[in-house]
Amino acid sequence: MVYGPEGCGKTAWLRQSAELLRDLGFDVIYINPIERDFLAEVGIEDIRRRLIEILREATDNAWIKAAWAVIDLTRELVKAGRGRIAVLIDDAFQAIGLDRAATYVKGGLLGLIEHPPETYERIIAIAATSEGLSRWEIGRHRWASLLTMWNMPREGFKQLYDQVPGNKPGFEEVWKLTGGNPSLLARLYRESWDTNLVMKRLIEEKKITPEFTNKWRKYLEDAINDPDTLWSPDIPEELINELVRRNLILYLMSDRDTRLWIDVPPPERDLELGIGRYVAWQSPLHREAVRRALESLKQ
Ligand SMILES: Nc1ncnc2c1ncn2[C@@H]1O[C@H](COP(=O)(O)OP(=O)(O)O)[C@@H](O)[C@H]1O
Ligand SMILES: [Mg+2]
Repeated sequence: MVYGPEGCGKTAWLRQSAELLRDLGFDVIYINPIERDFLAEVGIEDIRRRLIEILREATDNAWIKAAWAVIDLTRELVKAGRGRIAVLIDDAFQAIGLDRAATYVKGGLLGLIEHPPETYERIIAIAATSEGLSRWEIGRHRWASLLTMWNMPREGFKQLYDQVPGNKPGFEEVWKLTGGNPSLLARLYRESWDTNLVMKRLIEEKKITPEFTNKWRKYLEDAINDPDTLWSPDIPEELINELVRRNLILYLMSDRDTRLWIDVPPPERDLELGIGRYVAWQSPLHREAVRRALESLKQ
């Protein structure tokens, strides 16, 4: 299971992986119920057709059905003797429901690997999510291995920044706003680099309401300066849950051992970017949105 901030590049990574795996001779099934996107590059045409059949009815329910059907269809691929299969499940927990996420991963994905209907050479099953709650739900079990993906590292992000056309703020400023989050880069570009506007939208999307802000002001003010203050045992669990549920922070950042991360781990601590050893803001802009909400209530 791969977990990481919203817009850090999970989908891009999975889609790139799909290409790579196909070139390595894998049958690849990719599905993303939230973006209503799928790909079935499989050696048996009938399986692709059946997936399309389910998705013909263009409803949320059809996508949930399809996510479950992917498991059965993959079993059929194994049964038919396809030896290399990759199942890439992108952001499906939101659609199938948090309560079902564990069943999906254990009964579905792990079941494929551990109880196949036929022998196979290799099965790769990956589920990606930016939902902090599903990360807990799955990550606490032994049967899923969790990898975290962070925003882009500085050098890669610089390459992306260089390709953005038109007048733009200097790289250093963009880096300090986004912390390397490519989706925020896209948003800033689309909003003509109006940071205030992007922040206002974040405040709305994340429901950073006056009630929320005032209730937790004492803790939030500290966390803005150093997110690791949220790691203290005195912090109410309710606040942590609220921040995780809104995807404002990552709580319990893994050790920066590269084997626990996809690509480059974030720095151990970088308070300018809002990254603590154990807790991190999803991006500096997420933190600034909270800061803005706190300040606007003071006046
Ligand atoms: N390595 C990368 N290079 C260039 N663009 C990227 C890269 N990773 C992600 N992006 C772009 O950034 C945006 C957000 O990425 P996405 O994969 O949708 O994030 P996530 O799935 O984690 O929410 C997309 O527009 C995507 O194309
Ligand atoms: Mg995605």
